[in-house]
Amino acid sequence: MNIILLGPPGAGKGTQSAGLVERHGMKQLSTGDMLRAAVKEQTPVGLAAKAVMDRGELVSDEIVSSLIDENLAALDTGTGAIFDGYPRTAAQGEQLDELLAKHGRTLDHVIELEVNVDALVERITGRFSCGNCGALYHDTANPPAKDGVCDVCGSTEFKRRPDDNEETVRTRMDEYRAKTAPILPAYEARGLVARIDGMAGIDEVAGAIDAVLAG
Ligand code: AP5
Ligand code: MG
Repeated sequence: MNIILLGPPGAGKGTQSAGLVERHGMKQLSTGDMLRAAVKEQTPVGLAAKAVMDRGELVSDEIVSSLIDENLAALDTGTGAIFDGYPRTAAQGEQLDELLAKHGRTLDHVIELEVNVDALVERITGRFSCGNCGALYHDTANPPAKDGVCDVCGSTEFKRRPDDNEETVRTRMDEYRAKTAPILPAYEARGLVARIDGMAGIDEVAGAIDAVLAG
């Protein structure tokens, strides 16, 4: 099974991907995570992407599609892929169709997490993650069970993303509205879109996603 998780910044794509990996052994392919890793390692891709990401704008279609290509090539054919934060433009949608064909995969579902945009700034500015394993948390909605200790790996190091400030979040929202939301109708015409209330609790959203996958 191969699925796209679509939704604006803070909708819960990363949180729900982590649950899908755990429950169904799928592989999360997050272009945002791949780009952040490239920035950290100061690869040529990372050096080209850093300033663009810090502004909240979109990195070039060629860069993100080649990252997806490399990751699909390395993925066992029996393991389902979760596309998290990709595709984000009409061109990336076309490139994904070509890459799926190239790697012998088909797209099963496009799951849109519907959210109230006003609530997202609060979600994003409250977000932090484990510095060791990357587990995602929120100051109030999803803190670790024991304050200051990661539930997953026990690390006490946490970090926040440089693009998680109010000004950059607004640009990221604008980019989503202008370039990403318009790719949905094409998937709708193919009968692939399921809409889920992303404002519900994390477990409830997970249950709704599982219902789509089972149906
Ligand atoms: P990316 O990393 O993809 O960021 P994004 O799309 O802005 O999405 P986020 O990761 O901010 O949100 P999310 O939906 O994953 O929410 P999360 O689960 O963390 O992209 C970053 C940048 O990289 C882009 O701006 C661009 O520059 C570049 N880029 C990446 N992909 C690209 C592409 N394809 N093309 C071009 N450029 C690209 O949840 C957020 C918070 O809310 C967390 O704290 C979480 O604990 C909490 N939370 C989650 N669900 C719930 C819930 N149901 N109730 C309450 N709290 C919740
Ligand atoms: Mg994310």
